[in-house]
Amino acid sequence: MSETAKAATPPQEAVTLTDSASGKTFDLPVISGTVGPHVIDVRKLYDQSGMFTFDPSYTSTASCKSRITYIDGDKGILMHRGYTIEDLAEKSSFMEVCYALLEGELPNKEQLEEFEYHITHHTMVHEQLHFFYRGFRRDAHPMAVMCGVVGGLAAFYHDSLDIYDPKQREISAHRLIAKLPTLAAMTYKYSIGQPFMYPRNDLSFAENFLYMCFAVPAEEYKVNPVLARAMDKIFILHADHEQNASTSTVRMAGSSQANPFACIAAGIACLWGPAHGGANQAVLEMLEEIGHKDNIPEFLRKVKEKQDNTRLMGFGHRVYKNHDPRAQVLKKECDAVLRELGITDPHLELAMELERIALSDPYFIERKLFPNVDFYSGIILKAMGFPVEMFTVLFAVARTVGWISQWKEMIEEPTLKIGRPRQLYTGAAQRPYVALKDRK
Ligand code: CMC
Repeated sequence: MSETAKAATPPQEAVTLTDSASGKTFDLPVISGTVGPHVIDVRKLYDQSGMFTFDPSYTSTASCKSRITYIDGDKGILMHRGYTIEDLAEKSSFMEVCYALLEGELPNKEQLEEFEYHITHHTMVHEQLHFFYRGFRRDAHPMAVMCGVVGGLAAFYHDSLDIYDPKQREISAHRLIAKLPTLAAMTYKYSIGQPFMYPRNDLSFAENFLYMCFAVPAEEYKVNPVLARAMDKIFILHADHEQNASTSTVRMAGSSQANPFACIAAGIACLWGPAHGGANQAVLEMLEEIGHKDNIPEFLRKVKEKQDNTRLMGFGHRVYKNHDPRAQVLKKECDAVLRELGITDPHLELAMELERIALSDPYFIERKLFPNVDFYSGIILKAMGFPVEMFTVLFAVARTVGWISQWKEMIEEPTLKIGRPRQLYTGAAQRPYVALKDRK
């Protein structure tokens, strides 16, 4: 089949595909969004032609309509509800961003206060949930624990499981945003054998999270405002990212009408992988392995020769092919945190040198590989006192609002249908069954 028209310029209404074998043509509508590439609507293609489209890993497929987040990967633009990530990170708070993602608009003063009140008053978890933790080994990976306890929330909050009741959807969204930090902090405390710290309603979202992670009952704990602001920015930078793997997982799970707690647990499972949320942990492990600036050329040789599938972790992105705007904000924040804490981290120096060398190397230039958000986030989080195993958990805490906003948007679509991709079958064609005694 050859394409005889391209969907490049509006106001084109359709593209025509010609089947070069039969000469038949098929008109496919072109749909436009507010900004960004137009899409060819292939929903009727199978009925018309008997053929599917083939797009494993969805590099050319828009899986849904969405009004939440826009990314222009070539220009390095990320916007939530029309606001650039630079403006949001600089001028707003994580609670404002959460409200905007969920509700579509930035809140006014009263709306923000009311929203903060609701989130703050949902931060405690059912006391029975505490006992879940005892079932896990103390050395379990925190993401393994998170997959379990977040999925377990559905066993406790039966009054917010009706996905067709807008009020219940709202309550479960608030519960998830509010309880994820509590569960994450409990996961950390459990791993180091310290008592769980109950949330405090007089603290902001970021302050409360740092408090639940680092305070102990025996002593007063003062939250460092520079670290609280950095934590808040990290949450903002990770809040949503359009139809990435974990968000698509949440949408796919939700399309079967599964409850929101189960859907977010599915998102957490997907986020765990090193090609996605696990990358910042992998960056620090890589820096550890490189060890010294002198070893960078040898490491990059391995990467470029794809020896043992070695990748420069924290580099490259499926969508950003110029720069990742989140990485630039984080690099600045990283300097501020290290300065505040008076830390000179050899990993930071090593990362900067690695970045400098990689950005002038034709391998990375030709493939448009730039530092992504994870290249520097691990260094900040380590300086703040988090162990590497917790990095992806913090990503999950931040991304929960994006997941639940995308889930809510999907459920509110009148045309919601279960997600069900098709396939190009390459296995055996039909053949006669061979009895066990006759098999070779
Ligand atoms: N180091 C070395 N080579 C790379 C890298 C890398 N980090 N990323 C891509 N490449 C090469 C890849 O080998 C391929 O080369 P060739 O053309 O010779 O076969 C080419 O670049 C295209 O790679 P790809 O795998 O087709 O690219 P992708 O868009 O499917 O992958 C990615 C995106 C993020 C999975 C990948 O860049 C990667 O594995 N990066 C390292 C892991 C990482 O930092 N992940 C965090 C992503 S940002 C956080 C988030 O949003 O979740």
